[in-house]
Amino acid sequence: MAKLVINNDKKMSTIAPEIYGHFSEHLGRCIYEGLYVGEDSDIPNVNGMRTDVVEALKEMKIPVLRWPGGCFADEYHWMDGIGPKASRKKMINTHWGGVVEDNSFGTHEFFELCRQLGCKTYVNGNLGSGTVREMSEWVEYITFNGVSPMADLRKQNGHEEPWKIDYFGVGNENWGCGGNMRPQHYADEYRRYQTYVRNYAGNDPIAKICCGPNVDDYEWTKKVMETCFDHCEPRFHGMMDGLSLHYYTLPEVEDDWNKKGSATDFTEEIFYQTLKRGYFMDELINRHGAIMDEYDPDKKIGLIVDEWGIWTDVEPGTNPGFLYQQNTMRDALVAGMTLNIFNKHSDRVKMACIAQLINVLQSVMLTDGEKMIKTPTYHVFHMYRHHQGATLLRSDLIGAGTVGAGKNELPKVIESVSENADGVITVTLTNNSLEAAENVTIQLTDDGAAYGVCEASVVAGTMNAHNTFEAPEVVTEQAFADYEKTADGIRVQIPACSVVSIRLKK
Ligand code: AHR
Repeated sequence: MAKLVINNDKKMSTIAPEIYGHFSEHLGRCIYEGLYVGEDSDIPNVNGMRTDVVEALKEMKIPVLRWPGGCFADEYHWMDGIGPKASRKKMINTHWGGVVEDNSFGTHEFFELCRQLGCKTYVNGNLGSGTVREMSEWVEYITFNGVSPMADLRKQNGHEEPWKIDYFGVGNENWGCGGNMRPQHYADEYRRYQTYVRNYAGNDPIAKICCGPNVDDYEWTKKVMETCFDHCEPRFHGMMDGLSLHYYTLPEVEDDWNKKGSATDFTEEIFYQTLKRGYFMDELINRHGAIMDEYDPDKKIGLIVDEWGIWTDVEPGTNPGFLYQQNTMRDALVAGMTLNIFNKHSDRVKMACIAQLINVLQSVMLTDGEKMIKTPTYHVFHMYRHHQGATLLRSDLIGAGTVGAGKNELPKVIESVSENADGVITVTLTNNSLEAAENVTIQLTDDGAAYGVCEASVVAGTMNAHNTFEAPEVVTEQAFADYEKTADGIRVQIPACSVVSIRLKK
């Protein structure tokens, strides 16, 4: 029996909607087939963007989309992806499967997709193999509303009005695929490149994202903060507005990166090991956040976790370079737990993009030609959408204990709580146990007796339950009714291996 105390008189940080962001790379079937099928496809589409996928993403309330990579970004030359499609250059996608990239999805298509989705835009520039001029001209092409060579070129290519870049990444993983740089070298390059990411008159400022650490590379964070933060002026006008962090949950990797383990076929021990590895996100945010605090105690810049999620072996028989993996209740729990962690750190975490949107790694959707299914991870993002833009409330969970043995031990229940502008309180919880339900009594410190449940839902199943094209609704979000109002609060029974949302209203 556990108790969840919600201090509804202790309002904390705003949960940036962008914490619920996504990432789309020119990788496997993410862009091509997953999002973009072309205007002439038999698959229903609007200007080439598949309608089923766009509709489902809108329902999920996708707040921001990052593009074009990933590792692809530092080899992407944006001019190859503009102008008449027939004359766009074809290139080899060296990182991902060595396939031909015909550049039919480029800048215009990305902004059209975001227009249809109604989401913010996060463009990742090429610092690894591109020039300062190339990066600067891309920003000019996209955002300048006057007479200039790049604005004229955009107009010639059919788009009179400029678009808005909300976030701009100055390189990706520059400690690895983005140039194998040392932190000091990258930091100096960042200072130079970001200078030319211009804010043109009349535009909202572009938030500039600096390449941050890989996992627990605290030295990278320190060096980059030391070198790049010093000129930071008020938010969105300084040298950097965000520092990225990449952390993937690798279920089975010990020494050999190639042995990540199956997405669907795993033992209970591996289940707990995966959750424990996912839970490491909390420590990473605490420790990188502490370093950021040394330079930026007012938390003016955001920690941007723009790649996260479970990374397993690919589905048998699929191209190893396409990173196509299935998605089970284990993914749902890692998603639910991680989003709760981000909410609780929303004073520092200002954006996060799960990798990747569709058909790649921990996706919210999978496609097979014209067929599309939603994964358990989709249902968690849909369930958690009420947290977007809400205010985090302080919450303390007492008495639920732990699950997993030895090095895999982690809290049994992980929660976060927020209140929206209408005073509706959303409580989301994961029960990480495979065996035992948990009784949680929810108590509010301010006027608790006046609150009742106005909405509740659950995503539940066995640890490797998943949706397939033949059985697309094995795991879905269901209405939840296992709660009652008692003398000392609202008692909720959270099923084993589940993610639950309870919404409370006066
Ligand atoms: O998401 C797949 C890859 O993982 C990205 O391209 C890269 O940034 C990371 O290493």
